Amino acid sequence: MISLFSLTLMLLHAPAPTVCDDLGAGLSPGHRTYIVLLRPPVEASSKDDHRWWQDSFLPTPLAVSDEPRLIHTYTEVFTVFAVRLTEDDLAMVSQRKEFLWAFPDHLWRPSTTHTPKFLGLEKDVGLWRDTNYGRGVIIGVLDTGIYSEHPSFDDSGIPPPPSKWKGSCHGAARCNNKLIGAKFHNPRAYDSGDDTGHGTHTSSTAAGNFVSHASAHGLGRGTAAGIAPHAHLAMYSVCIILGCASSDILVGLDEAVKDGVYVLSLSLGSFFDVNFTDDPVAIGTFNAVAKGVVVVAAAGNNGPRSFIANSAPWLLTVAAGSVDRSFQTVVQLGNGEHISGEAFNQTANSSSNSVPLYWNKHCKSSLAGRNVSGKIVICHNTGSAINQSDISGIMSAGAAGIVLINRKDASFTTLLEDYGSDVVQVTVADGNNIIEYARATSKASAKVIYKNTVLGVRPSPIVASFSSRGPSTFSPGVLKPDILAPGLNIIVAWPPLTILGSGPFNIRSGISMSTPHVSGIAALVKSSHPDWSAAAIKSAILTTADITDSAGGPILDEQHPRATAYAMGAGHANPIKAIDPGLVYDLSITEYAGYICALLGDQGLATIARDPTLSCKMLPKIPEAQLNYPSITVPLRTRPFTVNRTVTNVGPINSAYTKMEVPKSLTVRVYPETLVFSKVGQKKTFSITVSRHRNVGSKALQGSLSWVSKKHVVRSPIVASPLL
Ligand SMILES: *[C@@H]1O[C@H](CO)[C@@H](O)[C@H](O)[C@H]1NC(C)=O
Ligand SMILES: *[C@@H]1O[C@H](CO)[C@@H](O)[C@H](O)[C@H]1NC(C)=O
Ligand SMILES: *[C@@H]1O[C@H](CO)[C@@H](O)[C@H](O)[C@H]1NC(C)=O
Ligand SMILES: *[C@@H]1O[C@H](CO)[C@@H](O)[C@H](O)[C@H]1NC(C)=O
Ligand SMILES: *[C@@H]1O[C@H](CO)[C@@H](O)[C@H](O)[C@H]1NC(C)=O
Ligand SMILES: *[C@@H]1O[C@H](CO)[C@@H](O)[C@H](O)[C@H]1NC(C)=O
Repeated sequence: MISLFSLTLMLLHAPAPTVCDDLGAGLSPGHRTYIVLLRPPVEASSKDDHRWWQDSFLPTPLAVSDEPRLIHTYTEVFTVFAVRLTEDDLAMVSQRKEFLWAFPDHLWRPSTTHTPKFLGLEKDVGLWRDTNYGRGVIIGVLDTGIYSEHPSFDDSGIPPPPSKWKGSCHGAARCNNKLIGAKFHNPRAYDSGDDTGHGTHTSSTAAGNFVSHASAHGLGRGTAAGIAPHAHLAMYSVCIILGCASSDILVGLDEAVKDGVYVLSLSLGSFFDVNFTDDPVAIGTFNAVAKGVVVVAAAGNNGPRSFIANSAPWLLTVAAGSVDRSFQTVVQLGNGEHISGEAFNQTANSSSNSVPLYWNKHCKSSLAGRNVSGKIVICHNTGSAINQSDISGIMSAGAAGIVLINRKDASFTTLLEDYGSDVVQVTVADGNNIIEYARATSKASAKVIYKNTVLGVRPSPIVASFSSRGPSTFSPGVLKPDILAPGLNIIVAWPPLTILGSGPFNIRSGISMSTPHVSGIAALVKSSHPDWSAAAIKSAILTTADITDSAGGPILDEQHPRATAYAMGAGHANPIKAIDPGLVYDLSITEYAGYICALLGDQGLATIARDPTLSCKMLPKIPEAQLNYPSITVPLRTRPFTVNRTVTNVGPINSAYTKMEVPKSLTVRVYPETLVFSKVGQKKTFSITVSRHRNVGSKALQGSLSWVSKKHVVRSPIVASPLL
């Protein structure tokens, strides 16, 4: 079967997928796969009629050879199908009056033990107990499939799914009260199993059950659990390692919504920056949000530069940071100094004394020609990833070990990889200290000491270098990403054997790890507030996020200056506070629709909402800045710019909030300065007027607005951008 246009799984350092706009290109020259959106036929009722009607759009039913043109067909209100067409065919199809929009199908990229505790979650106490560990909530995951036999998907302690659940299990070895749905929509997959490990780890991070005595290759021993350990899971397998086709993603999203999931977790995103109307995630999730589903999606592994994925405002877009855990490995220099690095593969401490150091700029196997025998080689990671055969080459030349220095732009982000034994990874700063010592000392030497797992590392979290940064190219007036969550060196459930490592647990990094953490948090909030809208749940997570790190200072980025709102959004997710936010910034689907009208017009609304009852004529146009978003983005101007926001009281009956903090670099007026509530559900509107001082340069400025009561702090980042 041929493949389609595709999205990518958020894999870091996976075997590089061949980036190819049209995987079926070789099959029928001149054709490529398009996703075609049509208004529905007036009469067609049965699936066969529908198919016939769609076929009537095709110049001939088959493309060259035996390859069918029609690859997918969906029968929702608006019809979507994926089809192989030439440019001439497309021109013809687009003449039909039912034609709405077409865009090329692409391949998209699919992008634990300690992290619940790092987020403040502990067994039998507090939030986990109070939210019943997410019981009753169904999390749908679109991914590569799932290794259902994994102990993380055991269903002990989990009741049957809610009666409204309509999903089913296909091609999974085991379904139970934990894994209540499994479907595969990828024409290249045979079942809902997981060849890569990706879908297994995203699912287990969101909602894996408790597994005691877990560890990944001897590291990080403890009880493994997802963030919502008693929530239900449903896997929609839409990806293979190469990626996830737009058309498969659209089918998976429609199925998940029909089945009745409460939260959707999408650890996938595009290879390239794509406008909302050409983005299957933006298009496919609008209806999900309309039905109250919280959609959590990955910001992408494109950092620290390049674009941010999944930036539509109805998505909860997640960035990645470090945790307070280090798989610590000390490089003890000949002068007695201790440098703390980390190692994926920790062996026994060597009994021998220090050995000589050998410094080289590149980690190349050509080093084997030099005399590295018995020495520890220090070298820099200069490419996008270190070549495993270079590492093996150096080791088989007899090197005693390798100290691998992080890439310059990764700096303090040490992304652990399984390079084999005797490889220690260090930050750029620590690497420079070792080199300085090696250069200044005639008989420089060192020794490596393995410490296994150290907790309480400071500062943490730090925004990971690979985490994609905002602003959104297509909607810079809405702050993205929304939130930061753990995504560096996370211990995750894993199938027994895949090309990316072996289970039952593994250590992986990426936006794919941080995204399901937030999906789990959304499930916990949903579990204790089943009637809240998707926007209210998002607001609760954003306005309660932490903005300080474990050392008490502001959260830093990988280069160690202060992380901006374009790196961490509202801050680091705090599930305990998210459950009780005090006030929420709510949004209805008609407000999102009004925003789409202002940004993309009627055609944009028809494409994205696929809902004939919504039309821009009937909706107020809502400019980006005026969308009732829990963060605030305004143009950086000397002339005052005013936005309105409305908050809903979800806290105590009688409560009063006063504004606390506004940025010094800007002039910000908030009116009124006090909000008094006498009922639950009561709404209050306020305005914020922002202007810049004359002397502030041209960089984006940021600050925050906090509404503070006796019990709650409701914080919104404010960004004043010169780009607007
Ligand atoms: C290596 O030695 C250090 C202290 O010298 C000790 O803390 C650590 O547990 C040892 N590691 C292993 C793997 O035995
Ligand atoms: C390689 O270096 C070691 C230790 O410095 C030394 O003993 C050995 O003779 C050297 N071998 C060659 C071929 O230079
Ligand atoms: C890895 O390095 C070896 C030797 O330097 C080279 O032959 C090979 O092509 C490299 N592989 C990749 C994927 O860069
Ligand atoms: C550690 O490295 C050794 C040697 O390269 C390898 O045989 C072993 O499988 C690795 N262990 C882990 C846990 O990756
Ligand atoms: C996105 O698409 C809309 C509608 O086609 C267009 O007006 C807008 O300029 C596009 N945005 C960018 C940044 O290209
Ligand atoms: C903000 O609210 C005030 C008071 O309700 C209203 O007069 C004003 O038009 C609103 N501004 C915008 C941009 O909606």
